[in-house]
Amino acid sequence: MMTTVVRNSEFFLLWLLMLSSTFTLFFMFFPQAFLVKHKEVPPLAVPVGQQGKDDTQARCDLFTGKWVRELREPAYNSSTCLTLSELKNCERYGKDQDFLNWRWKPDDCDLHRFDPEEFLHIVNSKTMMFVGDSLSRNHMDSLLCLLSKVEKPINVYKDEEEKTYTWYFKSSNFTLKNIFSKFLVQGKERTINGTGTGVFDLQMDKTDIEWANKLDRTDYIVMSNDHWFFRKNYLHENGKLIGCTFCTETNLTEINLNTAIKKATRTALKFIRNNEKLKTLTLLRTFSPAHFEGGTWDNGGYCNRTRPLESEKRLNEIEWEIRKGQVEELERVRGEGGVKEFGLLDVTECMMVRADGHPGTHWNNVWMKGFSDCVHWCLPGAVDVWNDMLLQVMKRFSSFH
Ligand SMILES: *[C@@H]1O[C@H](CO)[C@@H](O)[C@H](O)[C@H]1NC(C)=O
Ligand SMILES: *[C@@H]1O[C@H](CO)[C@@H](O)[C@H](O)[C@H]1NC(C)=O
Ligand SMILES: *[C@@H]1O[C@H](CO)[C@@H](O)[C@H](O)[C@H]1NC(C)=O
Ligand SMILES: *[C@@H]1O[C@H](CO)[C@@H](O)[C@H](O)[C@H]1NC(C)=O
Ligand SMILES: *[C@@H]1O[C@H](CO)[C@@H](O)[C@H](O)[C@H]1NC(C)=O
Repeated sequence: MMTTVVRNSEFFLLWLLMLSSTFTLFFMFFPQAFLVKHKEVPPLAVPVGQQGKDDTQARCDLFTGKWVRELREPAYNSSTCLTLSELKNCERYGKDQDFLNWRWKPDDCDLHRFDPEEFLHIVNSKTMMFVGDSLSRNHMDSLLCLLSKVEKPINVYKDEEEKTYTWYFKSSNFTLKNIFSKFLVQGKERTINGTGTGVFDLQMDKTDIEWANKLDRTDYIVMSNDHWFFRKNYLHENGKLIGCTFCTETNLTEINLNTAIKKATRTALKFIRNNEKLKTLTLLRTFSPAHFEGGTWDNGGYCNRTRPLESEKRLNEIEWEIRKGQVEELERVRGEGGVKEFGLLDVTECMMVRADGHPGTHWNNVWMKGFSDCVHWCLPGAVDVWNDMLLQVMKRFSSFH
């Protein structure tokens, strides 16, 4: 039992996150709720008819909208998706499945449900790589489950620490990879007497070679940068210490979290842009909010809501700022031109109200008894919408299908 638990790197990562109380510093610093105002988007004037519909679909802002109540069949379950992780299998651990009965409705159009056949058709003979932390893995796990309806993939590679996975879909010659990278840039944990401290030295101008060396023949990159920055980290540029996030030393420059995430995002995007051998579509997924209430990881925080948050959108200001920073970096790299394509999977707004979508205590937490996971997302669940969006966004880049 112990061996299986320890071998499960996701479990280990959760545990690491939990141990590091600095991870939650941020939640203590910014506990206030606030309202995010909706930008008023005028309706698009398009002719009625098929042509018009396609046009609306192609131009519609998929990321601004609301969740509407709708009874729907789950897209998959643990008997149809054999790769469903124990940590996200909320149904098995007693979560009421009514939280699945919500549909994301963009203000100006409808978002189609993920169509696995269409997706596999587009990615025929292509390779897609997910790069990021355990939330990136969460996203890929959802995609695997959605695709399993059509075809059971073959796991062709898994490293010892279960940080890199490769799946292969034979019928469409499609390769799907996941590469674990906490920061996208190089990060090395400080140790004391061989024990990790949860504090990292980050080289903000150097991409993490874990993924940077594996981009050969990659057509699609889905990249993200989330929660590992919510801790004390030492930041370096040109090999020189420039400061830290959540500093405790008074002789060092305090660098805000948003700046750190922006720098890492910029370095990663620039690396892809400057890699001459690559012809890729890179999609940057924006920040995925956590929903602890009444505390944090390690002091009784929970997330037991059974409905999405209503009208007012509860979100910490800094989470919205992080998203804004990511969007700016994406626009920056797009503005620099070049042959590579860059797009956005802007999930922050739709996820910020889904306080009901996390495993909470509904997971196999024997080992971490009593702790709530309010960071990752249940499968099936709200996170599946990331792939509804992924497919529609991919279709907008016509040179990639
Ligand atoms: C899973 O879905 C399949 C197909 O829709 C269905 O036959 C099966 O009963 C479901 N299993 C569970 C545990 O809900
Ligand atoms: C599978 O895709 C690769 C490119 O990823 C291509 O080189 C190869 O020829 C394809 N194989 C088949 C059988 O289509
Ligand atoms: C590291 O180990 C040495 C020798 O066992 C011990 O004297 C020292 O106190 C330890 N340092 C810390 C910070 O635990
Ligand atoms: C900051 O102070 C610590 C002692 O508190 C010292 O070890 C460190 O070298 C100092 N760093 C800089 C950049 O001056
Ligand atoms: C959620 O958990 C808190 C703390 O345990 C409890 O006070 C509250 O009643 C719970 N809410 C629901 C809807 O179960």
